[in-house]
Amino acid sequence: MNSAETQCDMRSLTVLGIETSCDETAAAVVRGPASPEILSNVIRSQIDEHTEFGGVVPEIAARAHIEVLDRIVAEALAEANCSFDEIDAVAATAGPGLIGGVIVGLMTAKAIAMAAGKPLIAVNHLEGHALTARLTDDLDFPFLLLLVSGGHSQFLMVRGIGDYERLGTTIDDAIGEAFDKTAKLLGLPYPGGPAVEQMARKGDPNRFRLPRPLLDRPGLDMSFAGLKTALRTQAQKLEPVDDQTVADLCAAFQKAVAGVLSARTRTALELFRERYPDIQPAIVVAGGVAANQEIRSALTEAAEQAGARFVAPPMRLCTDNAAMIAWAGIERLRLGPVDDMGLSPRPRWPLDQISGSVLGSGKKGAKV
Ligand code: KG4
Ligand code: ZN
Repeated sequence: MNSAETQCDMRSLTVLGIETSCDETAAAVVRGPASPEILSNVIRSQIDEHTEFGGVVPEIAARAHIEVLDRIVAEALAEANCSFDEIDAVAATAGPGLIGGVIVGLMTAKAIAMAAGKPLIAVNHLEGHALTARLTDDLDFPFLLLLVSGGHSQFLMVRGIGDYERLGTTIDDAIGEAFDKTAKLLGLPYPGGPAVEQMARKGDPNRFRLPRPLLDRPGLDMSFAGLKTALRTQAQKLEPVDDQTVADLCAAFQKAVAGVLSARTRTALELFRERYPDIQPAIVVAGGVAANQEIRSALTEAAEQAGARFVAPPMRLCTDNAAMIAWAGIERLRLGPVDDMGLSPRPRWPLDQISGSVLGSGKKGAKV
């Protein structure tokens, strides 16, 4: 522990967070853990730079982070009315994510920490998502997390800080990725999720019957690649597809995804009850796909039926942001030792191995 940390008042820590693991450049200042307060939360999306490619291009993402990160950090500090001297630590995403972007954020954080003489906290991006509900809803451990974004689709049991169990994950595409690929296939713009949802409103979800992959198997794993292929087959049979057919396919796709998620959510809640019979289950949803109204209502219903609490943090904190990284930094900082300057960025970093080495973790790593 260095001297800056020992001087901190652990009831009130002010942490600068930096997030650059995908296509959002973000910086935020958060104070807590008692009566947590988001003093600033600046997010710059790179969507416009990636739209023409129909997905995030890692090299473009890394360059865009470099171009704007120092300005975003300055903005976050100014909005929080804070100088480098007034923060207690710098927290940055150290993985998992697109490595170029992670390097930019982590190296910037190291430079600030070194220059300002503050501790550095390397945060696992997924831990940021996992702990957000404690910032917004004061949620106690344990609880379930369903993370559904462009890069991740997983159920986690959040048992404590640094104590996570991955209960199930997609075995192929992440859900947001499946939405994006489906949109591309149907000629809809990127990002695909909002476009598919909008088309689905005009569609008949029952005209096409799409599979519910893996639901015949126990456990909490999911699969979305087959769904997308089934949709492609249906679309190819009817080529050229008219607008109504596109809408009907979107509605069928969305219904199938919502069906898979609500079935798996019911199973996850049963598992929670078995493990913790005396605790009311809570399920938190995070990630961009959580913006989808049909998915949200399917999850709300599944939670209600199971007598569980359903927590959906506001969208700005549900999708990638730096407030969640700063908050995870606060939660970690109050527990003790901080990270040393020698640590490396980790493109793959499964949350259930948070305290272990992840070098060489195989093909199916943390991105899912
Ligand atoms: O969490 P997020 O902003 O970024 C990461 O992937 O980390 O999630 C973006 C993903 C994209 O794949 C996008 O298509 C999807 O979330 N998404 C949606 C909706 N809004 C965004 N998927 C379904 N329905 C939506 N309304
Ligand atoms: Zn994320």
